[in-house]
Amino acid sequence: MTILGIETSCDETAAAVVKGGRDVLSSIVATQIPLHAPYGGVVPEIASRSHVENIGSTIKEALAAARCHWNDLDAVAATYGPGLASSLLIGLSAAKSLAWTLQLPFIGVNHIEAHIYSVFLSPEAPEIETVLPLLALVVSGGHTALVKMDENRDCTVLGQTLDDAAGEAFDKGAKLIGLGYPGGPQIEKAARRAQPSTPGPIFPQGKIGPDNPALGSMQAELCFSFSGLKTSLLNHIKQNPITSDSHRDELALAYQDAIISALVDRCRLALESTDYQALAVGGGVSLNAVLRTRLKEIAKTAEIPLLLPEARFCGDNAAMIAGLAGHGGGVRGKAAFQLDAAPGLGWGR
Ligand code: KG4
Ligand code: ZN
Repeated sequence: MTILGIETSCDETAAAVVKGGRDVLSSIVATQIPLHAPYGGVVPEIASRSHVENIGSTIKEALAAARCHWNDLDAVAATYGPGLASSLLIGLSAAKSLAWTLQLPFIGVNHIEAHIYSVFLSPEAPEIETVLPLLALVVSGGHTALVKMDENRDCTVLGQTLDDAAGEAFDKGAKLIGLGYPGGPQIEKAARRAQPSTPGPIFPQGKIGPDNPALGSMQAELCFSFSGLKTSLLNHIKQNPITSDSHRDELALAYQDAIISALVDRCRLALESTDYQALAVGGGVSLNAVLRTRLKEIAKTAEIPLLLPEARFCGDNAAMIAGLAGHGGGVRGKAAFQLDAAPGLGWGR
């Protein structure tokens, strides 16, 4: 199956051609970061306008880079949720109309589930069946979820953030510290410059009470909360105004450590409960080198492999959309053509 994937859930217009779920023939990402940077976050109206302007050329570029013609395609897949409604609609409409015109199947894909499949987009990656059950951490600007994928590839969300996503915490924290956007890479860079010998502040990890009504079937100790962390950073800066670059770097180090410790501690705890065959991590925050090192340590202790996406597949991309579709996932058949954009799409059990 050669599948054209389309992704427009947030601020990247992306198209890719993937063969057999893992052989990436092309992956084009038209980033909008410079458009949103002056606002310190994604502006939905600007995002959807830019998707409209770029979707056609991005798809054509993906086909040309893959040396494919329309009639080489076997299906068209696109993200239908979760994400920004006005952004999702652009890619979803483009994909449905293309599939309809070319008389090809259309496959609707869940964006978060697709992030997990990003670790299989490489000839060296293991076959998915050999690493199930799998524990996956999806960490991006919009999502933070801990997911169990069982032997049938059914997913259960064990825990997720009840407020801000980890990437959002990086972005908002960077703004408070006076670093640029997107915040994750800026905080990582500043933290690397910090002198670890200087004792910096210790920021608390957000804890969730077991009677929190938002938990549903999720476990409190596997859920995340980052909004309190951002407030404690703000309070700290009010009481201790930033006086120098080294002070800024120290804060970045302490703040990064609090976010990463929250992520790693939940993964460690989840690994104790099931005989997982691998730990996978996806999403923009999975680019963070400290997170990668610390997850590698806990995977080593659990004697399982840590599956990481290639850097180009960590952030939003369309190869992961076509990858999941090529593995047989997503909504198919007539129901797929009837899908509407689903901004708050839930998923798993
Ligand atoms: O997956 P992604 O490209 O888009 C969403 O689906 O949100 O993730 C973007 C997020 C941003 O919040 C950005 O700050 C964060 O990923 N990020 C990082 C790093 N690189 C990107 N966070 C921490 N460390 C990084 N090196
Ligand atoms: Zn994403």
